[in-house]
Amino acid sequence: MAKRIILDCDPGHDDAVAILLALASPQEIELIGLTVVGGNVPLASTLLNARKVVTLANRRDPVYAGCPRPMMREIVTAEHVHGETGLDSGSGQPLGDPEVPVQQQHAVNFIIDTVRSEPEQSITLVATGPLTNVAVAFAMAPDIIPRLNELVVMGGAGFEPGNITPAAEFNVYVDPHAARAVFDSGVNLTMFGLDITHQMLITPPRLKALAAQEGKVCAVVADLLDFFNRYDISKYGWEGAPLHDPCTIAYLIEPTIFELSPMHVVVDTQEGPSLGRTVTDWWGASDEQPNVTVATKGDADQFFSLITQRLATLH
Ligand code: BDR
Ligand code: CA
Repeated sequence: MAKRIILDCDPGHDDAVAILLALASPQEIELIGLTVVGGNVPLASTLLNARKVVTLANRRDPVYAGCPRPMMREIVTAEHVHGETGLDSGSGQPLGDPEVPVQQQHAVNFIIDTVRSEPEQSITLVATGPLTNVAVAFAMAPDIIPRLNELVVMGGAGFEPGNITPAAEFNVYVDPHAARAVFDSGVNLTMFGLDITHQMLITPPRLKALAAQEGKVCAVVADLLDFFNRYDISKYGWEGAPLHDPCTIAYLIEPTIFELSPMHVVVDTQEGPSLGRTVTDWWGASDEQPNVTVATKGDADQFFSLITQRLATLH
C-alpha cells in the first residue's frame, strides 16, 4: 500500500527533485499535500516554486502556505546556493508559470486537521526545510505527535561538519528552536543529515544520465541541477553537489538504499558557534536513550538510478 505523505518543503532545487520523485512514485507514495515554509528563499518564492514544480509535473496537487519566518530568529536564506528565485537554472530559462492555486487553509492547520482526521499511524510527514511548520503544528496540537506514522527529516549533521556554519546544517540552523522542539517531542523521527546526503553527489555521469532521458521534466531538472552544482562544486571541490532532500522520499520508496541506526540527538539552541548543531551520540557515549533513527550510509548509484527512472515517467 502506498504511504500517505505530507511534504513540508522550501523549494529549492533539491526540494523540487524530492517533490517530483514523490509525484512520480504513485505505487509507493500518495502525496496528500505540499506544505511550504520560508527557508532557501522567502516564503513568497518557495510557495511560487512549489506551485511551479507541481505544474511542471502536469499535476494539480494542493499547495499550502506555512510560516514565513522562524519561531525566534530572523530568517536566513540561501540565494548563494539556489539563486535569486530559489530555482535558478543553468541555462537561465525560468520554470513555467504555475497553474496550481494556493489553498486557503494555512499549512499548519492542514497538517493538524489531516493527521487528526485520518486513521492513527496512517500519515507520514516529510520535512525538507526548516522545521517551523512542524514545530508550530506540534505546539498547537501535541495529540498529533503519536498519531504520525513517522516524521522523516532532511536536516542536521552527526559526524559531518555544518554547511551554513562550521557546526550547523542549514535547515536546523535557520530555525534551531523549532528543530529542538521537534527532536525533543518524542515523535518517531528519522534523520537524513549531511552524513548521508554528502554521499549523494550529482556527478557529471549522473547528471548526463538524467539529461539523456526523454521528456520535458528530466531536461528541466538537469538544467536546474546544472545551476545547483555550481556553488557546491566550488565550495567543496567535490565532483558534484550533494542532493540532500530527495533522500527522504527515496527512503520511503526503497528503504534498502540506506543504512540507519538509532541514536540520541539534541539540537543546540545556545547563541554561539554551535547554534543549530545536532549533537549526535554516534558511539553511544552517553546513557541517553536514542530518540532519532539516523541515516548513516547509502548506495548513491541506486539512489540516482531510482531518481532518473522515476522522473523519466513524468510528462
Ligand atoms: C538543506 O538546505 C537547503 O539549502 C536544501 O534545500 C536542503 O534542504 C541542506 O542543508
Ligand atoms: Ca530544502
